[in-house]
Amino acid sequence: MIWFGGDYNPEQWPEEVWAEDIALMQEAGVNLVTVGVFAWANIEPREGEFNFGWLDRILDHLAAAGVNVDLATATASPPPWLTKAYPDVLPVTESGVRLSQGSRQHYCPSSATLRRLSRRLVTALAQRYAHHPAVTMWHVNNEYGCHVSHCYCEVSADAFRHWLQARYRTVESLNVAWGTSFWSQHYSSFGEVEPPRAAPATRNPAQLLDFDRFSSDELLACMKSETAILRQLSPDIPLTTNFIGFFKAVDYWGWAKEVDLIANDSYPNPADSSSPAFGAMVCDLMRSLGNGKPWVLMEQAPGAVNWRERNARKLPGQLKAWSFQAIARGACGVLFFQWRQSRRGAEKFHSGMLPHAGTNTRIWREICDLGDAISELDIAQETQDNARVAIVFEWDSWWTVEQAGMPTQMSYLDQVFELYESLYSKGVLVDFVKASFDLHTYDLVIAPSLFCTTKESLESLDRFAAGGGNLLVTYQSAIIDGSGAVFDDGYLGTLQKTLGLWVEEFAPLISAADIHGRTVIGEQPGLLVGEPGDHLDYWFWSEQVHVTTAVTRACYSIGPLAGSPAITKNQVGRGSAWYLTTRLNSSALSDFLGVVLMEAGIAEEVKTANGPLEVVNRAGHRFVIDHDTQAVSVETLETEG
Ligand code: GLA
Repeated sequence: MIWFGGDYNPEQWPEEVWAEDIALMQEAGVNLVTVGVFAWANIEPREGEFNFGWLDRILDHLAAAGVNVDLATATASPPPWLTKAYPDVLPVTESGVRLSQGSRQHYCPSSATLRRLSRRLVTALAQRYAHHPAVTMWHVNNEYGCHVSHCYCEVSADAFRHWLQARYRTVESLNVAWGTSFWSQHYSSFGEVEPPRAAPATRNPAQLLDFDRFSSDELLACMKSETAILRQLSPDIPLTTNFIGFFKAVDYWGWAKEVDLIANDSYPNPADSSSPAFGAMVCDLMRSLGNGKPWVLMEQAPGAVNWRERNARKLPGQLKAWSFQAIARGACGVLFFQWRQSRRGAEKFHSGMLPHAGTNTRIWREICDLGDAISELDIAQETQDNARVAIVFEWDSWWTVEQAGMPTQMSYLDQVFELYESLYSKGVLVDFVKASFDLHTYDLVIAPSLFCTTKESLESLDRFAAGGGNLLVTYQSAIIDGSGAVFDDGYLGTLQKTLGLWVEEFAPLISAADIHGRTVIGEQPGLLVGEPGDHLDYWFWSEQVHVTTAVTRACYSIGPLAGSPAITKNQVGRGSAWYLTTRLNSSALSDFLGVVLMEAGIAEEVKTANGPLEVVNRAGHRFVIDHDTQAVSVETLETEG
């Protein structure tokens, strides 16, 4: 059974409404609702006083109706009594502003008080509901870090010092790692270290990197303090927390193993033509985080959200197209935020499965239609077909390559998405990996701007290529090590040997003339695509490299780098390693990746109708999604033997 439903907030409604809610859930085919996400104040209206009556009643009604419950631990929004009694729970921004109650997620992730009070709440919930027939899943907190991912208060400062002490042992090791001889930043003790608060100029990049790591770890520690209780008191019920796709503040690789199933919230902009590809990329990350296991699309909007400047609604059919995209890419559940559109509060103009206008509405009909279509699919526990291509995605690189004081300001996610989108439009399924993973099951591994990495990770990439894999590395990779220092054996570190070249100098493109329309391929031998004289347009970045053993497959043809290698390929062991020194525009990237795939023996699987169709195979089913017309079809594939 594929989970189908949404966030249900019965505490926002008089109890008389509940019967209608449940009847309509049954009509729509809802089989799972997330209850209590923001209900701390309703469950514990005064410190230590619990009011479970309403929750007992709604859970009983849901159980009787056969609707399963993903029960929240309710810790995502501390009630007013809590922040009044313990004001130091409130988080502080990098400029020193203490945030107030009155919204949600207003807590410092390092607050011992918050963790203590959360644990008490979770314990009470687990003791009461671990054996309730409706409770099928635990929903820990909500979207960790979504609004407050970094806190700069004194409590956080102290926790940061402890984290640093555990990492570096001695303050001198910290001084070396952070390069504190620069700008007179030497510390005599851990007590002198502060979080990287607002400062006059560029802050210490290694300090910023460690603070990003620390902040992600602190949120994870919050989650683990709740999951430890659930594991003990409710060992039979799987637990999850809802991730937020490619979310910069939280390194999900470390989180994935702490939950029983991966869940994600996804809100692509319906008005953005790249949303189908971006949505697919998020699905593929979630599947990859769970090591291929089925995952849940925990939240999506039935129509419009209410937090963009102007909020496009989903077009007719889009709700189905994007839900099936998730299922095709490994999801075992498709849920929405939220069941009944609110009448009051900050999200009253966010769409709901049951809109303000009621059941005689397009959204309601589409929800019922989706529930119906999903109920016919029997693939919830089946895994996705294996991907042959993987993209390396790492938070350390994301955090560092976007810091101040860099050769260029750039977006890590844009680099990754450009590559992904090109592969998506060729119908190539992609997994996401860390460079240190065992990569041998892939035929092609792409490492885009893997800026901050370790010797061990580079060795893993070297091994992959030498063992017969095809590696593609793009510019701004392997520049700094895990402590933030430039590799002492040169840019690219040990990859220099695998790629068969070395980098002399970066040459970011500055002027408008530089930025567009220059050609990569001149009339040199070893042409990459087409005939001599064909060209690939590039922009944004170039660099001066010297090949040692690599073959130059495309050269810069004009400008100061004319004649210098732009794209190279090195034969290494049984495999190969490409290096892309520049940022190709989208049609050039598509041509280039076409060659890379062809030489790796990977077929493109494009189908077109009005435009490209999204075609994905899972467990004997072929899903075909036309994002232009929002048409969806599922074919059963012939199985061999
Ligand atoms: C997030 C939250 C929900 C809701 C939606 C609105 O996903 O988890 O509570 O605020 O955003 O889009």
